Amino acid sequence: MAVRQQAEQYSVAACRQAIRRHVRQLRRHLAASERDLAASQLAEQVLNQPGIMAKQHVAVYLANDAELATGPLIQALWQAGKQIYLPVLHPFCPGYLLFLHYQQTTQLQPNRFGIPEPELNCARVMPIAALDIIFTPLVAFDENGNRLGMGGGFYDRTLSQLPADSACQVIGLAHNCQQVENIPTESWDIPLQQLITPAQYFDFR
Ligand SMILES: Nc1ncnc2c1ncn2[C@@H]1O[C@H](COP(=O)(O)OP(=O)(O)OP(=O)(O)O)[C@@H](O)[C@H]1O
Ligand SMILES: [Mg+2]
Repeated sequence: MAVRQQAEQYSVAACRQAIRRHVRQLRRHLAASERDLAASQLAEQVLNQPGIMAKQHVAVYLANDAELATGPLIQALWQAGKQIYLPVLHPFCPGYLLFLHYQQTTQLQPNRFGIPEPELNCARVMPIAALDIIFTPLVAFDENGNRLGMGGGFYDRTLSQLPADSACQVIGLAHNCQQVENIPTESWDIPLQQLITPAQYFDFR
């Protein structure tokens, strides 16, 4: 790689790391009461989106590292009769996620990052192409729908398996303070089609 190219690559990576550090700190500083309010406002925002509520098979996540909490959202979606799925680390394909059916009775166990996930059971795996909606966590987003995660590439790899003509909607969930002016992107980043904060709905399509 030419020296200049190498320097540019380095600065993109350094900039992405700086954004991650900054935004993770911002969201960690939200008070517990603000977080709780944000989580119930998120559920309301989603319930007000007819395009989402018309769908049936919805992948959600369980919050980690001060991510926007999804407890009230999951409750509301269950109440509306939706089928909910949670990400599980793929047992054989490192860096990929599987989505497993999640019901009120599903037992959860912490994965190697300490994030609770359903026990792996092939009969409960939902093929990604059969999901109607995938709500993703993220660290930062910008007004063009670019998404920066925690840096593991799990969602990028997994979402790259969606067929080009897939009707599955990829929707980011974030606190308002996670919006940044511009995210320097990499070739493998999968952008968001929509994004919901406790206060706002963004459609990037
Ligand atoms: N489709 C892919 N195939 C192979 N490697 C990938 C793919 N997508 C991302 N990666 C790798 O994952 C690593 C992290 O990517 P990136 O910094 O974009 O993570 P992220 O978007 O913050 O994380 P996540 O997707 O888990 O939210 C990079 O080294 C990248 O090469
Ligand atoms: Mg990425």
